Amino acid sequence: TKSLRGHEGSAAFVVAANRLPVDRVQLPDGSTTWRTSPGGLVTALEPVLRKQGGAWIGWTGAADEELAPFEHDGMQLVPIPIHAQEVEEYYEGFSNATLWPLYHDVIATPEFHREWWDSYVAVNRRFAAYAAAIAEPSAVVWIQDYQLQLVPQMLRELRPDLRIGYFLHVPFPPAELFTQLPWRRHILEGLLGADLVGFQTNGAAQNFVRLVRLRVGHKTHRDTIYLEDGRSVVAKAFPISIDSSSFEELARQPETAARALEIRESLGNPKFVLLGVDRLDYTKGMPQRLRAFGELAQEGILDPAEAVFVQVAPPSRERVDQYRRLRDEIDRLVGRINGDVGRIGQPPITYLHSSFPRSEMAALYRAADVMVVTPLRDGMNLVAKEYVACRYEDTGALVLSEFAGAAAELKQAYLVNPYDINGMKATMLKAISDPPKEKTKRMRAMRRQVMEHDVDKWAQNFLEELELIREPHGKRTRP
Ligand code: G6P
Repeated sequence: TKSLRGHEGSAAFVVAANRLPVDRVQLPDGSTTWRTSPGGLVTALEPVLRKQGGAWIGWTGAADEELAPFEHDGMQLVPIPIHAQEVEEYYEGFSNATLWPLYHDVIATPEFHREWWDSYVAVNRRFAAYAAAIAEPSAVVWIQDYQLQLVPQMLRELRPDLRIGYFLHVPFPPAELFTQLPWRRHILEGLLGADLVGFQTNGAAQNFVRLVRLRVGHKTHRDTIYLEDGRSVVAKAFPISIDSSSFEELARQPETAARALEIRESLGNPKFVLLGVDRLDYTKGMPQRLRAFGELAQEGILDPAEAVFVQVAPPSRERVDQYRRLRDEIDRLVGRINGDVGRIGQPPITYLHSSFPRSEMAALYRAADVMVVTPLRDGMNLVAKEYVACRYEDTGALVLSEFAGAAAELKQAYLVNPYDINGMKATMLKAISDPPKEKTKRMRAMRRQVMEHDVDKWAQNFLEELELIREPHGKRTRP
């Protein structure tokens, strides 16, 4: 933590996440600068960080980069160096080829390598050391996601004065899957270093509490875990959300409406536009949804001149094997369907393997009659909420997987089991052809949910609960 010299003990609020909330951008003169990344997490935490003089520690995304802390948008950003071998072992390896598939129902087979684990431990230790160095006495530290599950305990050992929160953005698997992990006990104990452990759903929180009881042997009662030393840990659901009103605002702009019309025109003014938007990830159920749509087109149930599918899939984790294979699979599937039923100038599927600014996404959401979100497993899925936030006229339909955390809140969506291709075909058809009145009824209810529960409220709820849980050095006793 040499590079922190002069910044020690300076932050009353610290966020630790694998990634910093900025992207590097090239300026015309060749120099580079930083731009705040579009994610909801930054949007929610930026005001808190600014108000409290907070710091965000994380990785820039480049290997072997040693940068001093810098200011950006009123936030103190603290880059953590990650070496090339750690990118392979901690990030691509343990985080994204062990934990990611294990936590997502082993859709892909997790790989277990002891060197990857060692690297995960080393990088988690570095995050803990940076957080310990930058936090002022009794500061609040909020650790994010599966890449940093050991940090709570490591940090508590260094700084018992801190209030430590942790939030897992991805699913937390049932004991039957989690216990495959050779380092299961270390992970559970790592998380128990926090005062509050947040999950996306009640089910995930219950999985964790049950595992702690069975595997670590702690006493538990409902959402509270009682440790031997008298400390207690609360584990409960805080479903994350988006900056709902800013999405609605964007969708309401005249330029967005114009762009939405232009998009529909470019697609040949079909009657129905179906839309999918996902990082190119095997958890998202893209092949399943494309197969369902493709069969409807091949069977002549949907006329490719009347109904088209737009799939936007920004590249992701491209050096991880399973992601390369998925890309090939999607390339082949889209090519086959378009080749089978497409006509000149009229492919049934438009596939875009790239990312777009928020304004373009808002236009796409406005242009889409049916949004199709069919992950095989997903912690929450914010795309579903973005679509709903943009449908301010209460039109459009959301087809949503039962296996996304969002399904617990968006109960009026057209829910599907993405493993059931016939079921998906039937539900997609229903979402297309239901009377407008029915669609409006559903959309209105979902909009109430999304507009009321935005990401600000999410952060506020979590941080308030963290304040409540532990009076400084106080002990909670068993009821
Ligand atoms: C998911 C994870 C995040 C991660 C994001 C992008 O949403 O929960 O922690 O940052 O995917 O993945 P990447 O590996 O590019 O950071």
